[in-house]
Formats: sequence, structure tokens, C-alpha cells
Amino acid sequence: MLASFISKCLCPTTRIRREPRRIEFFQGTLDSTSEITDARIFDTTLRDGEQTPRTSFSYEDKREIAALLDEMNTHVIEAGFPVNSDAEFEAVRDIVDASSTTVCGLARVVEGDIEAALDAGVDMVHVFVSTSDVQIEDSMHATRDQVRESAVESVQRVKEAGVECMFSPMDATRTSESFLIDIVEAASDAGADWINIPDTVGVATPTRFKELTAMVVDAAGEARVDVHTHDDFGLAAANALAGYEAGASQSQVSINGIGERAGNAAYEEVVMALESLYNVDTGIDTTRISEVSRIIEGKSDVPVPGNKPVVGTNAFSHESGIHAAGVIENTDTFEPGVMTPEMVGAERELVLGKHTGTHSVRERLVEAGYAPTDDEVREVTRRVKDFGAQAQRVTIDELEKFARQVGVARQEEEVRA
Ligand code: KIV
Ligand code: ZN
Repeated sequence: MLASFISKCLCPTTRIRREPRRIEFFQGTLDSTSEITDARIFDTTLRDGEQTPRTSFSYEDKREIAALLDEMNTHVIEAGFPVNSDAEFEAVRDIVDASSTTVCGLARVVEGDIEAALDAGVDMVHVFVSTSDVQIEDSMHATRDQVRESAVESVQRVKEAGVECMFSPMDATRTSESFLIDIVEAASDAGADWINIPDTVGVATPTRFKELTAMVVDAAGEARVDVHTHDDFGLAAANALAGYEAGASQSQVSINGIGERAGNAAYEEVVMALESLYNVDTGIDTTRISEVSRIIEGKSDVPVPGNKPVVGTNAFSHESGIHAAGVIENTDTFEPGVMTPEMVGAERELVLGKHTGTHSVRERLVEAGYAPTDDEVREVTRRVKDFGAQAQRVTIDELEKFARQVGVARQEEEVRA
């Protein structure tokens, strides 16, 4: 590994000092994204994230993940669905006791669910009910009137208990607009503090979601608006950002984007887009993003693809000659510039392989203690490329083997000579 080149991780507890990142060539994006001034993050890794097929977090896992999210200054942690089991109830209750941030518990518009959440001592109860006709008819076997009534009663019960209430009209993006507005107004009149807009099956597009969010913001009265987006078409993060652009104050995200089916908007993508592209100070300690991502990868057993934005192993890696040479000179050449590996607790890497150029090879040889001539660099590069072309991983050991074969002198030999 190229020790001097790879950027250093910041100490995990260090809060990154935000510098205005008004890079001249980037002004265009910043100018077009100035509409978001305040953005909160609601993490649902422990609830929707845990609904990932074949994923289940133990009590200890939940406590560890919640503690980390809390230390990162996440605004709300949805710790689980307390009525689900005794173990879930205990985990939520103990997370509430241990956390300094707002802890939320999920509940259907059912008395037992709401009482379980209240008994667990949560700061916020998130009540949800289906509002699209397809779900009302074929999942709930109910009517719109019954749905509206149970929503209102549930919000009222939570508010009587003196607890913050979030109301979700589930499948909002496939709900008739008039019924959606009707139930949002009813929930808001009943005292809901938050109206969430779930894109339950991920069918929204950014333009449409922005319009829908603006409409809900208008109908929500005193209640603040939150959005919950799924990634069935790879639009979850874009839709979450469209929600903020339309006036939502908060979005629901999960680490690595885990969750039902294709998952939720990814915490790391939404937070870094807010910080770096919209220039919003979320207050989140972004330097712990890589750490939390690795923990969730291990505990959820959902592998993070190498090309996953922000947290994939390739997110700050460079192999091709032009890119690596540019990055050696100035990292802004082939990285966003406004998002660096340091900001997310990651490391930059120059990968050797089929596309490597002489700049990378020279850097890495020098770093490994060699003093190559130009001809030697060219010859080692040829061997690296040939080896990489056979889909072989070019490790530092391999590089040193090529250097010895070519007869590259060590730096100390060079000094003695
Ligand atoms: O996707 C969804 O609609 C949900 C609700 C519980 C908000 O997860
Ligand atoms: Zn969901």
C-alpha cells in the first residue's frame, strides 16, 4: 500500500470541521442546489434495514449499531418494531435508555402495537397504515373510511401519551392524491408531529416525488414532513433529495441501503450528497461512515459491491493510467473534490492492473523503497499490465517480484553508489 499517498483516516471520534467547499469549478452545482438549508436524518437500519430478506440483528448487534448511529449524531434512530417479540421490545427499550438522540418505534394502527411502543419508552412512535387502494383492498381488507379512522385514533393515542408521533400513509406514491391529502390533513389535525411520505415500492421518480412532497408539505399544516424512499429502480437517494428540495425536513435512510427488496435510500449517499453537493451541514459525523458500513455489512450479511457509492472498495480507487497520473498530481482531477476519502473515514488507493500507467508504478516502487530508472519503470509497468490482463491481482509482493526480476536498485543501494 502506498503509505504516503493513501490518505489517513481521521480519528473516529473527531468531528470534521466543515470548510466551505466552494470550489470554483463546482459552483454550478452548488448554485442549483441551494434550496436545501436544513436536513435531518432518520435512520431505519434497525427496522426497515432488518427487514432485508435473511437478515436478523441480535440484541447485541442492535445495541452496538444504535450506539454508533447515536455517536454519529443521527437525528432519529428507528430501533425496531416493539410488538414483534419480547427480544425486539427489550432491544428497543434498552436502546432508548442508552441513547442521547431521538429513538423511534414502529407501530401499525393497532392498539397492541402502539401500547408496546409506548411501554418500550420510545421518544417517537411511527404509526403507519396502507392508503393505496390495492393495499387497502388486498392486504388490509378494509375501506378508506376505516383506514382514516384508525389513523386518527392512533395519532390521538400517541399524543395523549405525550410522545412525538410520526404518521405514514403507506404506499403514498400509489395512493389517490385526493385520499392522500385527506388522510394527511386528518392526521395533522389529530396532532401528528411528522407526516412521512413512503414510496413503499420505489415507483416514484424525482420530479414526481418533488411535486408530491410539495403537495404534502402544503397539506401537513403544523406537521413537518419526512420521506421514506425505496430503491427498486435505483432512485431512492435521488427521490430523498427531491423530497428535501420540495420542503421535507427529514429523510429515512439505512446504512448501505439495506431494507425490503432492493432496500432503502442509503444513509451514506444521502448524507454525503447533502454535505457535498448541497453544502448543507447535517451535523452528522461523516468520518465514521466507512466504519459503520463495514459493521452493517458484517452483521447483515449483505455484501457491499465494490462500485457502491461512498463506501464501496472502489469508491476512491484508481487503476487506469490517466486517472492515476491525474490523481497523483491533484486528487480533484478524477475525484469529486467536494467529497474526499478523509471525509468518510476511507482510504484512497492506487490499484495496479491491466490499465496501470507508469506514474502509478513509479509511485509505488518508490514507496516500496526502490529507485527505478525510467527504463525500469517502463519494463515493470509492462509486466504489471500483462499480469493484470490475465485477471490477476497485482499485489505489492507481485510488484516487488517484478522489480527484482528487472533488477531495480533499492534506494539505499542508490545512495551508497
Ligand atoms: O416502505 C414503507 O412503506 C415502510 C413504512 C412502514 C413506512 O417501511
Ligand atoms: Zn420501507
